[in-house]
Amino acid sequence: MAQKMYYPPEELVKNAAVSGMEHYKRLVAEAEKDYEGYWANHARTLLDWKKPFTQVLDESNAPFFRWFADGVLNASYNCLDRHVAAGLGDKVAIIFEADDGKVTKVTYRELLARVSQFANALKSLGVKKGDRVLIYLPMGIEGVVAMQACARIGATHSVVFGGFSALALRDRIQDTGATVVVTSDGQFRGGKALPLKAIVEEAFVMGGCESVRHVIVNKRTGMDIEWHPERDLWWSDVIAGQSEVCEPEWVEAEHPLFLLYTSGSTGKPKGVQHSTGGYLTQVALTMKWTFDIKPTDVFWCTADIGWITGHSYVAYGPLAVGATQVVFEGVPTYPDASRFWRMIEAHKVSIFYTAPTAIRALIKASDATPEVHPRNFDLSSLRILGSVGEPINPAAWEWYYNEVGHGRCPIVDTWWQTETGAHMITPLPGATPLVPGSCTLPFPGIMAAVVDETGTELPWGHGGFLVIKKPWPSMIRTIWGDPERFKKSYFPEDFKGKLYLAGDGAIRDPETGYFTITGRIDDVLNVSGHRLGTMEIESALVAHELVAEAAVVGRPDDITGEAIVAFVVLKRPRPQGEEAKRLVKELQDWVAKEIGPIAKPKEIRFGENLPKTRSGKIMRRLLRQLAKGEEITQDTSTLENPAILEQLKG
Ligand code: WT7
Repeated sequence: MAQKMYYPPEELVKNAAVSGMEHYKRLVAEAEKDYEGYWANHARTLLDWKKPFTQVLDESNAPFFRWFADGVLNASYNCLDRHVAAGLGDKVAIIFEADDGKVTKVTYRELLARVSQFANALKSLGVKKGDRVLIYLPMGIEGVVAMQACARIGATHSVVFGGFSALALRDRIQDTGATVVVTSDGQFRGGKALPLKAIVEEAFVMGGCESVRHVIVNKRTGMDIEWHPERDLWWSDVIAGQSEVCEPEWVEAEHPLFLLYTSGSTGKPKGVQHSTGGYLTQVALTMKWTFDIKPTDVFWCTADIGWITGHSYVAYGPLAVGATQVVFEGVPTYPDASRFWRMIEAHKVSIFYTAPTAIRALIKASDATPEVHPRNFDLSSLRILGSVGEPINPAAWEWYYNEVGHGRCPIVDTWWQTETGAHMITPLPGATPLVPGSCTLPFPGIMAAVVDETGTELPWGHGGFLVIKKPWPSMIRTIWGDPERFKKSYFPEDFKGKLYLAGDGAIRDPETGYFTITGRIDDVLNVSGHRLGTMEIESALVAHELVAEAAVVGRPDDITGEAIVAFVVLKRPRPQGEEAKRLVKELQDWVAKEIGPIAKPKEIRFGENLPKTRSGKIMRRLLRQLAKGEEITQDTSTLENPAILEQLKG
């Protein structure tokens, strides 16, 4: 297969942490030869341990694997104190750019003081090691401070993305049993002030938030908010008088650093539990190798702290390695679609990490409005580009490579998941020849494979299930409160409980062995790089008083990757014309309210019924074809009600 390969520039190869393919292969061989020794060595050299570990990987209670279990450390100490102690106190840790363009810089010394002060404030409210703190904040310095402060005192944080609804928030408060919620009055996005505290109030009204003793509110927009004096506290008041020194709480390596909820194919979102020592080891190593981070780099990951990317490559990774990073409050299209390029120019960003959906939206915008095209800006500071969240289509890849990177910046297309904690399959910028649309090869020390339904490894060129054959340091430890679901979801019996099932399909190139991700193999959709369960959206729809039945599928979309299409049966006759239009809008808003705007179906079609087999099973494959507007080519003889297909054609 004569694919065009893109080679890293000489200059980059020369100075890269992993320099050339021979170096990459040596590292892979090293990990294969002595897997535990390899990871132990990285954990020792990348992190400072209060008490060094003597055990490396503990498989005695598989699949509940433990890493470095008898070691003791603190994540916040590793992200802050040790850099200040090493003379980096005056180095800028965060360049924060607000929605309105205002820039605030925070040094490592200042960040340590702010984190310590907020940590002391949490302690004064009775928050202890192991307690859960729910964080519902917009992108900003406070978000990072709150997460680091939790880590500092051994509290386990759970960040909820600011775009999630009151119901989603309530469910997460209830599931974690959080004792404190940290939020702000509102947030700025695209020039608009949007509420956050009001959504917290709504969550409380729903009931189930009885575990919460305090709500800490940061003043951001100055908007009017409801206030409960017995429960609510201003951020500025809780830190007032608190010392800027706080001795870290030293925790075992396996201590849960955070819980982060993500959608699965069934039931409610799962609370993915991450560790401290293993997580931070792999996050720091991927900063060094995937991003080749150097002391002089300016790193910018555009992800929100509400997602795993914002945890690993905003709140922890860049700080763990003492880097300078940009944190951005706003959206890529405000005040116009040149915002990213302006910011790269202004802050001299050298490593830029974003999602394919943003790239596609910006391509479209600069086709329509040439003034916002990246060519109008000085992007010469860039040296490495990254992509994450979904497959990047070759056309978007080429544009990113040529128009943004001027053909001299490797693109690291990083495949990983909320559950994997850090990069798993990715090019290394000074080593791996690139093929657009392929995440290329496993990170050294990650044993990825493509297998069939029995768990047998397939020859290259054959599509199958993407699995990881050996536990890795930053892996999910369990699903909070549901260890059985953890086992069933990720270490299924079909594979004798031995392989981690990623939930993605993949195929390896017959010649290079490069991995290409072919999409989810379960009922999980990927909309703009965000994961949504079809069942979750269906449950939201049927919770509406008019809806009898609903089925949700994805269809390819030029900008968002996948778009949500819902097929709905109402408890009243099938609506037509204006009534149908009105109901579509009502149901879209309903889903936005139940889950969040990201879950809004792009299209809703009404039928008197759904296509079902005689045994009553919904034929989703047919619905997928209908959603795409394809002719039904499959055998429909098992269908109980073939006439229904005509109605659902859209
Ligand atoms: C799912 C995980 C990992 C951070 C953001 C998403 C898809 C992720 C890639 C990529 C193709 C990708 C997969 C995966 N995905 N990165 N580079 N190429 N697909 O985290 O919400 O846990 O979603 O995103 O389908 O399973 P997440």
